[in-house]
Amino acid sequence: MRRENRLSAVAVLPQGLEDAGCEELRALGAHGVSALRRAAAFQADMACLYRLHLQARLPFRLLREMAHFRCGGRDDLYDGIRGAMDWERWLHPSMSFRVDVTGTAPGLNHSHYSALQVKNALVDQQRELWGDRSSIDLENPDLSLHIHLSRDGATLSLDGSGSSLHRRGYRAAMGAAPLKENLAAGLIQLTGWDASGPLVDPCCGSGILLIEAVLAALQQAPGLDRSFALEGWADFNPDLWHEECSRARNRRRGDLSLPAVIGIEQDPAIADQARDNVAAAGLQGVIEIREGRFEDQSLPEGPGVLVCNPPYGERLGAMDDLDSFYSALGAFARREASGWQLWLLSGNPKLTGALRLKASRRIPVSNGGIDCRWLHYALR
Ligand SMILES: C[S@@+](CC[C@H](N)C(=O)[O-])C[C@H]1O[C@@H](n2cnc3c(N)ncnc32)[C@H](O)[C@@H]1O
Repeated sequence: MRRENRLSAVAVLPQGLEDAGCEELRALGAHGVSALRRAAAFQADMACLYRLHLQARLPFRLLREMAHFRCGGRDDLYDGIRGAMDWERWLHPSMSFRVDVTGTAPGLNHSHYSALQVKNALVDQQRELWGDRSSIDLENPDLSLHIHLSRDGATLSLDGSGSSLHRRGYRAAMGAAPLKENLAAGLIQLTGWDASGPLVDPCCGSGILLIEAVLAALQQAPGLDRSFALEGWADFNPDLWHEECSRARNRRRGDLSLPAVIGIEQDPAIADQARDNVAAAGLQGVIEIREGRFEDQSLPEGPGVLVCNPPYGERLGAMDDLDSFYSALGAFARREASGWQLWLLSGNPKLTGALRLKASRRIPVSNGGIDCRWLHYALR
């Protein structure tokens, strides 16, 4: 990577998946990667930044740093933003935008207020230039700006995805208490499942863990079926983008023969949603969704990997029922999955005791703000 082409950027990651996220960034060609809290800093050239948008499975967002300036308060923020970029080139009034602010600076303790300062600086400048201003679009903006405030000053970045990268384009149906796709992909990466043995989710909900596992095994790029805010950037390079799109498309391993991948779901409506999601992801015939209770099912010949995001009381299920649910899950694992690996997402340590299994690893992760553990059990 030539030094003059180097961009500094940050990947926003699920909490607990910072190291896995760093590994993924390096594998896709990023340099100088270092883990931060819920994020990773890295350097990349434009081709690599495009590639990460198309191929990275773990980040929520990728932020490209554009400017850094001193910020001792409100006026510094207002003036700094106006001079931070060539806005005449980057933000025409016909384009919508959104502003997100994280962190604080003196007199700028509320992110909403700070974002308002940034917005005012930009629309005031647009009115002076064009007599017109952009509208704000929180859902699908043409330009998505991110400002991080700290004692060191303000960093202005562009969010290349627009809407979060966990939206792959295949999930129409949500099940109950769904995992986000990027978190599911990260959890699967931690299991080390390499498609050499079966993969089963005994309470699969919308099927996200299985879908993300198979897409990763097939090396199918998660970003090929969606659009990105970066396609509207002033320095967007369509040739380079198309090159990276073909490169992403060509990585797919059409030759891979997959083992049994099975989801079990007791709620018929949710099982149907899981089937719809499997079909939308192009994985019909690859992932089997069985409708029923896991207690009544038998597993294919193993050893394989069981993955599971059971209810844990924060959002689903009453505690008493949950105790017998976990005890049944433990009994099922002992009966059916001797020699298998079990990975279970627990949001409540009081419940996992009922499994009557001993975890060999406990990896802290956050699922939508709930402090969870991704627990590993080697079943004997
Ligand atoms: C927390 S949700 C799973 C969410 C899933 N990981 C997702 O992202 O959509 C738990 C699921 O387990 C199902 N379930 C509960 N008890 C079950 C049982 N005994 N057998 C099979 N599925 C069960 C529920 O209907 C629910 O859809």
